[in-house]
Parts: sequence; structure tokens; C-alpha cells
Amino acid sequence: MIESTDTRGDVPSPTHRTDPFITLEFARLRADEDIPFDLYVLNGGQYVLFRKAHLPLTMDDLNAFKARGIVQFYVDGRAKKSLARYMEQELAVRLKDPNLPLDEKSAFLMEASRIIMDDLFTHPESPDTLPRVRALVEHTVGFIATGRQAFRSVIKLCTHDYYTYTHTLHVEVYSVALGMQLGMSQSFLKKLGEGALLHDVGKAKVPPSILTKPGPLTPDEWLVMKQHPEYGLDLLRVHGELDPIVEAAVVGHHERIDGRGYPYGLKSHEVPLPGRIVALADIYDALTTNRSYHAAARSFDALNIIKDHMLGGVDPELFKELVVLLARNDPNW
Ligand SMILES: [Fe+2]
Repeated sequence: MIESTDTRGDVPSPTHRTDPFITLEFARLRADEDIPFDLYVLNGGQYVLFRKAHLPLTMDDLNAFKARGIVQFYVDGRAKKSLARYMEQELAVRLKDPNLPLDEKSAFLMEASRIIMDDLFTHPESPDTLPRVRALVEHTVGFIATGRQAFRSVIKLCTHDYYTYTHTLHVEVYSVALGMQLGMSQSFLKKLGEGALLHDVGKAKVPPSILTKPGPLTPDEWLVMKQHPEYGLDLLRVHGELDPIVEAAVVGHHERIDGRGYPYGLKSHEVPLPGRIVALADIYDALTTNRSYHAAARSFDALNIIKDHMLGGVDPELFKELVVLLARNDPNW
């Protein structure tokens, strides 16, 4: 039985990452545009500089990559901020581009989100964290709200592979879509999306010795781990007063309606709605992505696992809505 989605090794401590390079699919880049960071390729296991910053890629470069079956560049982790800023600027442009196919828009949204969240989670206490999260959520909510095809296109990218930071985006997408299905207002959805993106930010304050410990945690270590929802509030409150919807999503995402959750052991509707929504989205994404300890389940199977083993912890009405939402829209059903 799955008791918790908090498997520590899945979300490495943001300040203790080891891989210095960040992947960037070359399909996200356009020929002849100014790229403000160096691009590397992997050759014989070594990162090799392919193009210096500000020297544009040509259409011939891109075609040559395509012909060789190479799909990604690498960017030095020290240029993470520059890469994230570039993706933020380009995201606004690409989503408005009437000539860009829907699937390419959703792929850009997801890849930009991964890169931006990676940058933001490195220093979550930085003053620009919340404004940048808000801008990202505006794009996501705006895109999903354009219609069912947009949601279907995003959802295709949410299943299967799990990478650090993509989990938070998936939780955001499912939470916002579930909120939309419930008929919540745009302003509620944006705050819910913010809370979903930030739900595990408190893990930045959990010592890496606990977060990345390969074996089971001791009871004392669990006590620390179980504080991450409150640590998240501490981190976000340095930016000023938190919106109550964001707050409820962050602190409530491990509460269970049977009272066996944490940090407060709230029961039933004592768990605020944003917490119940994000908790369900969190569990669903944990089941439908590949992890070190299980392969990704299809939607239908994941929902059955929740129904058979976890229904005591999640809101049954929300669960029904999630089933309807996915049965209608998930191509991986
Ligand atoms: Fe969590």
C-alpha cells in the first residue's frame, strides 16, 4: 500500500544538485535568433562547446542535428539564470504565435516551466520568486483555458517520465484542470496553480542527508521530513503575507481527510479545498510517472490504485471529478 508520495530521492535538495548541465531540446530554439548562453553537445560522454552565446544557430545546424537524431543541447548550470530568463521571454512569444502548432506550444510551456522552476527553486527566498511563479501560472492557466485540445496536448506530456521539477508542473496542471472542472474562478485557479507549483518548496529546508538518504528514515528523520509543508510557508512568508489559497495548498498537501496526514492531522473538510486538490494531484502524478521504485501506471490503473488503497485519505468527490476529467481527456487512459 502506498502511504506517502514523499520519496526523498525524487526531489533532491535544490541547493545540492550535482549535475552541472541542464538539458534543452533543440526543437525549442529557432534559427537565427539571439541565444544568450553557450550551447553544448554530449560527445563520447563529454560536454563539448557547440556554439558560443550570441552566435546564432543556422537552419543548417538545426537540420544537421535532426538528421543525426540528436534531440538536445546542454547548457552549463552556471548559466541557469540566463537560460531561465530566455525561456520566460520566449514563452510569452511562442504561446501567442498563431503559426505554432498546439503540441509545440505545450512542449515549450512544459520545458520552459521545468527550467524556470529549477532556477527559482535554487533560491526560493529571492524576492522575484513569487512574481515569476505568478507569471508562469498565468501562462499555464491561460493556455489550458483555451480549450480541451490544449489540455489534452499538455496532459500527454505529464505522464511517464519523471524529472526533478517536472513533478511540480504536473501537479500544477492537474490541480488547475481539476479546479476548472469544478467551475472555480480564474483568480482562484491562478492562486491554486501558484500553490501547486510551490507545494514542495519547503524541501529546500530539509537537510540533504535526510532528503537524499537511500535507506528508510528513522522516526526522528521522519519528524523533520514531515515539517516540509510548514517549512514551505516559512520560506514563502519572507516575501510578505501569503494568499490564503496558496498557503492552504502548500501547507495542506499532505493532509488526509481521514486525519492521518500531516502536519496538523486535519479531518474531512477541515482540510481546505486547495490542500485537498493538490494532495490528490500529487498522488496521481506520483503513480503515473516512472520512479526509482515503480514504473508509470496508466491513468485508468492509477485511479484504480487510489480507489482500492488510498480513498480513505483523499476527498471522494474530488476523486470522482478527477476520474471524469481524465476519462474524457487523457489520451493515455
Ligand atoms: Fe510534499
